[in-house]
Amino acid sequence: MPMQPLQTIQCPIDPQFINLGLGNPQLVLLPMELMEQAAQRCFARGEKDFLQYGYEQGHGAFRQALAEFLTAGYGYSIGPEDVFTTNGVSSALSLACLLFTQPGDVVFVEEPTYFLALRVFQDHHLRVISIPVDEDGLVIEALEEQLAAVHPTLLYTIPNFQNPSGVTLSAPRRQRLAELSREHDFLVVADEVYYLLGYGDPPPPPMAAYIPVGRILSLGSFSKILAPGLRLGWQMSDHETMRRIAQCGMLDSGGGMNPFTSAIVREVIEPGLLQQNIEALKAAFRQRIASMDAALQRHLPQLTYRRPQGGYFFWVRFPGGMDAKEFLPRARQHQVGFQPGIRFSSQDGLGDYGRLCFAQYSEADVEEGLRRLRGALDTWAWSLAVSG
Ligand SMILES: Cc1ncc(COP(=O)(O)O)c(C=O)c1O
Repeated sequence: MPMQPLQTIQCPIDPQFINLGLGNPQLVLLPMELMEQAAQRCFARGEKDFLQYGYEQGHGAFRQALAEFLTAGYGYSIGPEDVFTTNGVSSALSLACLLFTQPGDVVFVEEPTYFLALRVFQDHHLRVISIPVDEDGLVIEALEEQLAAVHPTLLYTIPNFQNPSGVTLSAPRRQRLAELSREHDFLVVADEVYYLLGYGDPPPPPMAAYIPVGRILSLGSFSKILAPGLRLGWQMSDHETMRRIAQCGMLDSGGGMNPFTSAIVREVIEPGLLQQNIEALKAAFRQRIASMDAALQRHLPQLTYRRPQGGYFFWVRFPGGMDAKEFLPRARQHQVGFQPGIRFSSQDGLGDYGRLCFAQYSEADVEEGLRRLRGALDTWAWSLAVSG
């Protein structure tokens, strides 16, 4: 039997296939030298505490650096006591479910929502109810209607440059969402993973800024602004909620999350290199958005979409109520992939939508991928016409 190569990354890239469905950054965008130099600076300090079990809330010097960085990025004063180190959004979300829900509890999600968050809720046996989003994010009237009938334990929202739709929750809706969480006693888990990746006007203050108003757990991550392999992020909430998290069995046994990596990332933040990295990513993504937009208009004028202002994705609508999931195998025959919209729905809806990512492929590959998608669409329309 031929030896299979030992797999090292979650989604290996097939050079023949252009998978615009992947939501990962391209390897060339990951800052190898910057991390190497940061590690050298970290080891040169000669302090060993980052090799020890960490403080539950996270390494103090790292939190100090992170708090200063977020004060600039979030636009209001944040102290080291306000941030709590995590292993990224996914694990923080799962931990929040573990600590704050019981199996069978209701979680409200957006429609559409990040499909892998739905998997986390499944793991915790939560019942998912969706609330629609429009161009200003979560529709508050629809939320209020649901709240009159059902009590959720959690509400999961992606308020900034949402995955997949790209929409951003408006400031008045943020305020109202925070108030409602207090009035109806549910925890808003705000996945703010794309907050710092805006390409135009800054979004309204993050949900983290509304912690004094409502019951908010705001999750941030280094995955999209530095590297996903770090498995490092932060969470912010009221001090009582953070104390509850700090006292969980996992942290009691294992100590704070990722002291080793966070000590290295401190050395990226302190000299201003994280901000530089973000600026470089934004410049690259602005260009890719422009070229994906142009290529969509050139090859696929029949698709409708809004040009994204942040994040990683175009959320496109196929024409004529077409079933994107049914079409996907045909696209694959043409060596191109995308995420069908139905995966982002918790009620089997959004069938005629698709998500295209511009973070994984170069401008030339995006152009070629969309050319292939057009080819697939043409043969699909033709085969439907023949069979119809
Ligand atoms: C909305 C959203 N949340 C969370 C994640 C994963 O974040 P992390 O790597 O911090 O677990 C992603 C990655 O695609 C995402 O798009």
